[in-house]
Amino acid sequence: MTVLVTGATGHTGRHVVAGLTDAGVNTRVLVRDRNKARGDVVQGDIRNLAEAAEGVDGVYLLWPFFAADGIEQALEPLAGKKVVYLSAMSAEDGGVWGDVEAAVRKVTDDWTFLRVTGLATNALAWAPQVKTGVVRAPYGQARRSVVHERDVADMAVEALSGVHSGQIYLVTGPEALAQAEQARLIGDALGTPVTWDEQPPEEAKAQMGAYLGAEFARNAVDYWASLVEDPEPVSLDVARVTGHPARPFDEWAREHFS
Ligand SMILES: NC(=O)c1ccc[n+]([C@@H]2O[C@H](COP(=O)([O-])OP(=O)(O)OC[C@H]3O[C@@H](n4cnc5c(N)ncnc54)[C@H](OP(=O)(O)O)[C@@H]3O)[C@@H](O)[C@H]2O)c1
Repeated sequence: MTVLVTGATGHTGRHVVAGLTDAGVNTRVLVRDRNKARGDVVQGDIRNLAEAAEGVDGVYLLWPFFAADGIEQALEPLAGKKVVYLSAMSAEDGGVWGDVEAAVRKVTDDWTFLRVTGLATNALAWAPQVKTGVVRAPYGQARRSVVHERDVADMAVEALSGVHSGQIYLVTGPEALAQAEQARLIGDALGTPVTWDEQPPEEAKAQMGAYLGAEFARNAVDYWASLVEDPEPVSLDVARVTGHPARPFDEWAREHFS
């Protein structure tokens, strides 16, 4: 069996490659820069998978864009293959992740969707502010069940090497933590206090809109607002599928900030 890993240089993909290799599964990686990978490497863009998908049995798929334009054509080379797609909980409401899931279902029946609430790696965006000891962002009391990228990868390895066809997993961390608490735990990992400075939502929307697009930024900030009263769910799917509990955020913080 050979599995194509897209996003192989990214946070989850690099662990998917390592996990599949440990499990004795051959991997091929798709990268934009050939110098970033070794082994069975195809250089190219994720929107043109024909060469990369030739002869593989399975695919770890992510779609690193904020819109699904061109998705159906992009996925044609995956027809009939096993596809494990890194999706989002919000796919049930449509959006880019819902559109990609729909396109995957059209090309193959052998799919598994890993719907994450949020990736712990989102907190890496705070890194420059963490150095100052203050994270300025909106809704510090929004409680998120962010998941360690290695848990996502462990799920993907199980899904790619086992029988999980047609399954939709909700992939979360072990608890819903306030964003301000995440910042505090990063400070603990560093051994220096990190506090939260509550940023007005409109300021955050304008700032994020500049690089994420106004609509995406608005939706994200409004979503965080909703999590103050109604935290993200905590799922046991990581434990059920991988056999180990989801890794806590303080472990993630120590790995990335100490
Ligand atoms: N952040 C969240 O909370 C969240 C929630 C739900 C779902 N997700 C999904 O998670 C995905 C990110 O996964 P991740 O954290 O593992 O990845 P990541 O660390 O964000 O890295 C993105 C990967 O995609 C590759 N890439 C980007 N554009 C590409 C292109 N045009 N052609 C080929 N490869 C390309 C990058 O390669 P290079 O080395 O060439 O840059 C890199 O390997 C997002 O796209 C999103 O759909 C995220």
